[in-house]
Amino acid sequence: MKLCKTVAELREEIALAKAAGKTIGLVPTMGALHEGHASLIKAAAMENELVVVSVFVNPTQFGPNEDLDAYPRTLDADCKLAESMGADIVFAPSPAEMYPSEDMTWVEVTGDITKVLCGRTRPIHFRGVTTVVSKLFNLAQPDHAYFGQKDAQQAEVIKRMVKDLFFNVQLRIMPIVREVDGLAKSSRNTYLSKAERAAAVVLSSSLETAKTLFDAGERDSKKLVEGVKKLIGDEPMADIDYVEMYALPGLKPVPEVLTEGQYLLAVAVKFGSTRLIDNVILEVK
Ligand code: PAJ
Repeated sequence: MKLCKTVAELREEIALAKAAGKTIGLVPTMGALHEGHASLIKAAAMENELVVVSVFVNPTQFGPNEDLDAYPRTLDADCKLAESMGADIVFAPSPAEMYPSEDMTWVEVTGDITKVLCGRTRPIHFRGVTTVVSKLFNLAQPDHAYFGQKDAQQAEVIKRMVKDLFFNVQLRIMPIVREVDGLAKSSRNTYLSKAERAAAVVLSSSLETAKTLFDAGERDSKKLVEGVKKLIGDEPMADIDYVEMYALPGLKPVPEVLTEGQYLLAVAVKFGSTRLIDNVILEVK
């Protein structure tokens, strides 16, 4: 496996792969790789002849009071894990390499899709995500790019960007990988104290309860949302940012009674200073 730290090095590798007619899979990450990321790399390795994993803690998607400096950086371990899952290249550029000029070109998806859910408390977040993902798409020229359902709004926003900007890439949105007790794997789980870690299981367990009610025939969207709010609210360490439901695709408002279609039930909750997200998709057939 090759480690590329500069745009020029990556470009050279991509040019060689393209000349050889290889299909390219891209897995964008911010590193601190865990089994969630591993599942994306594995899927990419099954479907492509060259797999590029980017490891870049992207400064433009962090707000001024967020965890950019504290975000875990574990490049050596990341390279080992990426290689063991079938990556051919790890692209780990510096911020100056990705953002060479103080003047910026932004790629921004506008509208409610970036304003609801995480967009409300993280107003510049998705603009940073779409900007860096555009740069990565242009550099790696992937046939397929892999993202996790864990970040459901991010996946919706990127789908929209790919459609609007005619990016020639197929997106693959992979299922959420969880700990044994249900907590969605996240690089930020390492911030949790022992007590917070134990309390955080309420995210997945409350969504699981809502799914069970939904599967039993509950179609009242408010009841489903309020049920999750109540369960999380009963956990003293949990500080709710949002519990909301939107229609897919595109995060449109939901009707009171759910009719045919797919719905995203999403939560963001703070435990101490650590903010965690989780979600479930409910489908009325
Ligand atoms: P990061 O948080 O490192 O996540 C990289 C990818 O791994 C994302 O697509 C995310 O949804 C996926 N992922 C994370 N946890 C997962 C889990 N438990 N199960 C399945 N997939 C999981 O998301 C980002 O980085 C950044 O915003 C990025 C897209 C790289 C742009 O900077």
